[in-house]
Amino acid sequence: MTAPASAAVPMALHGLAAGSAGRPASADWTIPQRWSDYTPQEHAVWQTLYERQTALLPGRACDDFVAGMRDLPIRPDRIPHFAELNEVLKPRTGWEIVAVPGLVPDDVFFNHLAHRRFPSGQFIRQAHQLDYLQEPDVFHDVFGHVPMLMNPVMADFIQAYGEGGLRAQKLGTLPLLARVYWYTVEFGLVQQADGLRIYGAGIASSRTESVFCLDDPSPHRVAFDLMRVMRTHYRIDDFQEIYFVLDHLDDLLELARVDFEPLYRQVAYLTASQPEFLPADLAPTDRVLHSGTGAYAARQRQAQAQHGR
Ligand SMILES: [Fe+2]
Repeated sequence: MTAPASAAVPMALHGLAAGSAGRPASADWTIPQRWSDYTPQEHAVWQTLYERQTALLPGRACDDFVAGMRDLPIRPDRIPHFAELNEVLKPRTGWEIVAVPGLVPDDVFFNHLAHRRFPSGQFIRQAHQLDYLQEPDVFHDVFGHVPMLMNPVMADFIQAYGEGGLRAQKLGTLPLLARVYWYTVEFGLVQQADGLRIYGAGIASSRTESVFCLDDPSPHRVAFDLMRVMRTHYRIDDFQEIYFVLDHLDDLLELARVDFEPLYRQVAYLTASQPEFLPADLAPTDRVLHSGTGAYAARQRQAQAQHGR
């Protein structure tokens, strides 16, 4: 199948399905990074991805992302060594990076997050897959996620998400919580004094979506509202049709303290009488920052219909 132009979206899936790489021997799915085994070609792929993304992100990534990147030992010319990252990250926010083969089961993923361990794909995509692959690799995970893990608010929020994920699994409400993660940690935008900025890793690690999410008139941009987000489907196969915008990154702190159990019941109550929102929908109660034209999604649908998909 031809990859969609947006491409990076599947990389943002974490813990939503076990990967194809197979189960490693350790119960927590961690593996050694084996940094010395990376080939010159693999380091070259990193360099290509790093250089094109760092050229795009000034004026697009939020200040906290830029600060995190500045303070981490992430170099353009080689895949980062997790042990070196951890020497900086752990004293800052208590987080550490652990290597995994690819996607890991939900319970394993949440358990790592609940203990401030971020599971990162050990592998890197190949040179012919720069914009598309099925599982998060070291570029998505490190370049996209780790700078924001240097931020204390995001650090607390992702740990809380891990704890919440373990609870949601027992309650059968994981799809609702996953939407919160998707529209924040992966595809979140934030309002800064100097304009809209990216903080989501799925966007920050994507050459195409880091432009689309801010510049294209097609998607909606709507102020973040927790209940609204929990009732909204998302795209895993293409650019998002809606982005939710935080007024301040610090709003995640409040979100980390939310008791979700009553909210799950409230969502179930609402969904019994009203349909959930599709990604292209606007709700009457939305605080709309930009009402999208939907032109990109319409073109994609048309192209797919022409190709019989
Ligand atoms: Fe991700």
